Amino acid sequence: VRVARRHQPFAVELSGLDGADVSRSNGAELRRFLIQHRLVIIRQLDISPEQHVLLMSRLGRVITEMPDSVHLPYPERVGGKVSYVTTRPGEYISGRDKLTFHSDFSFYRDGAGDAISLYAVEVDRDDPTTYVDMVGAARHMPAALLERLRGLEVVKCANFFQNADDYGDHYRITDRIEGKDYGNTVSVHPAVIRHPRTGEELVNICQTFTSHVKGWSYATSEDLFRDVARWQYLPAHTYRHYWRTGDLVIWDNIALQHGRDPLGDAGTRHLQRVVTNPWDVEELQERSGSALDLHDPALLPATGEAAT
Ligand SMILES: [Fe+2]
Repeated sequence: VRVARRHQPFAVELSGLDGADVSRSNGAELRRFLIQHRLVIIRQLDISPEQHVLLMSRLGRVITEMPDSVHLPYPERVGGKVSYVTTRPGEYISGRDKLTFHSDFSFYRDGAGDAISLYAVEVDRDDPTTYVDMVGAARHMPAALLERLRGLEVVKCANFFQNADDYGDHYRITDRIEGKDYGNTVSVHPAVIRHPRTGEELVNICQTFTSHVKGWSYATSEDLFRDVARWQYLPAHTYRHYWRTGDLVIWDNIALQHGRDPLGDAGTRHLQRVVTNPWDVEELQERSGSALDLHDPALLPATGEAAT
């Protein structure tokens, strides 16, 4: 495995890896690149779903994302370990909407977990996925702002039943639709955390899943989020990946957030997804627990003037 190219500000493109024959030592090497660069690109791969799963299993525990009801009719989905982010209908993440910045799973108590990979099975439009570095954000923001964040907790949630148009930049815990089953997808997190592998501080606030600062009103939270966002989404901390068929992109889902602009009306973008995480989705749900839910007053935003 060799470095073919570096992409500013953090990504690295590798060559010399045959997706059909991925060894344990390849996995250890990929891990080192992932720790150092946060995002690894391997181009012109021709791999089956099984090979994709094998490759990621060299990095960590490949998790079952899909419930049995979804994957059982499709043996090629390797027991629910393979899913799709696609313009084709009826998949895990289908559609062409804008996706605001987020780390997947970060609304669970255990946080964002580990790594995500997407493999471009068929791409005839190259709209980018945008990646932003939260370690860089913590490092570059004013020291006083970072110090302020260190003392705060945020409430995160996933409001699956909302359209992108309806929630602005942040899901709000009180926008949940009464009677819908959201699973155990509310949790409280420090606004700044340390990366479990590198010990680096990073900003643990994202656009999509962060409802508000614990104990604060939405308005006061929003003022802070706006100040922080100035440092999170700077071009200097951004890498845009323009997809081509055969690309495999693996990224650190803890250090990086990802998002995309709306995709155009025509053309196909079919990306195959395999994820490593210490816990399966069902385990993440269990570990998060249902005690934290939207009826717990401690999780609801303050009304009126927040005590900050
Ligand atoms: Fe995502």
